[in-house]
Amino acid sequence: MANTNMQGKVCLVTGANSGIGKVTALELAKLGATVIMVSRNRAKGEAVQAEIKRLSGNENVDLLTADMSSIASVRQLAQEVQAKYPQLHVLLNNAGGMNNKRQVSVDGIEQTWASNYIGPFLLTNLLLDLLKASAPARIINVSSTAHKMGKINFDDLQAEKNYRAFPVYSNSKLALTLFTYELARRLEGTGVTVNNLHPGVIGSNFFGTGLLGRLSKLVMLTPEQGAQTSIYLATAPEVATVSGKYFEKSKISTSSKTSQDQQLGQRLWQVTEELIAQKSNQPINA
Ligand SMILES: NC(=O)c1ccc[n+]([C@@H]2O[C@H](COP(=O)([O-])OP(=O)(O)OC[C@H]3O[C@@H](n4cnc5c(N)ncnc54)[C@H](OP(=O)(O)O)[C@@H]3O)[C@@H](O)[C@H]2O)c1
Repeated sequence: MANTNMQGKVCLVTGANSGIGKVTALELAKLGATVIMVSRNRAKGEAVQAEIKRLSGNENVDLLTADMSSIASVRQLAQEVQAKYPQLHVLLNNAGGMNNKRQVSVDGIEQTWASNYIGPFLLTNLLLDLLKASAPARIINVSSTAHKMGKINFDDLQAEKNYRAFPVYSNSKLALTLFTYELARRLEGTGVTVNNLHPGVIGSNFFGTGLLGRLSKLVMLTPEQGAQTSIYLATAPEVATVSGKYFEKSKISTSSKTSQDQQLGQRLWQVTEELIAQKSNQPINA
């Protein structure tokens, strides 16, 4: 991968304290970018922020805390970014996870759906004006090949009737991929691109700290390998104008047929706006 100079570029990475996000933040810092790390846990974030500064020699590594599953916290994050940064060139929606048991967010939204889809949807929408004003700019959504097993069941988006961890995770990633394509259509002509990717099957904290987690670190690809496509999409000159695509191993790949259903993408967008408005008693761009 070419070592694009990222000096003067401001890049925000969610889930930057661990796994793929941590490596992505580190590599962007090494390339000279101003990096805004987002972590939900301040102590974990501070430790990684210090490590990234030390390893990259770049002091322009900021840390903001936010819980991506909380509407109020995402709103607060967007306000902090807007207040501190006159420009934002890369928004990397990387944070995500899978819950073995059904839990709900502070807003009463199923937790996986809230963290992996609703949070990135809201954050992106709130930062769109800043991204447009900073164009050329790039939005990158870390999806998963799991989206291919996902379904959008409008009668049970919160998995109240039937909760199984992997299907619910897959649904959230399908929603993120549908969001990517609908957003790409809406952003045509603005100079802001949006793409999504599968990072590979990576031995990170995604698989927890138990036996599966320890095994995953032995047999799966490393977070360094998992971060390559994110870094490529954030930096490579040859994808500066590519938008609305799905990438694997730094190459355009094909996402599921369902993910490309334009009507489904539009309906999901509308339902998502309504859900956020209903849960927070205000329209998303209030
Ligand atoms: N690992 C894989 O095989 C794989 C495959 C396909 C896609 N992905 C996707 O890749 C992305 C990165 O995962 P990873 O493998 O690097 O796993 P990871 O090591 O567990 O990192 C996930 C990051 O997301 C953060 N996060 C999760 N929920 C959050 C929330 N509600 N608010 C704020 N931060 C939150 C985590 O924070 P904490 O440290 O506080 O938990 C952590 O920083 C995820 O979106 C995942 O779905 C991973």
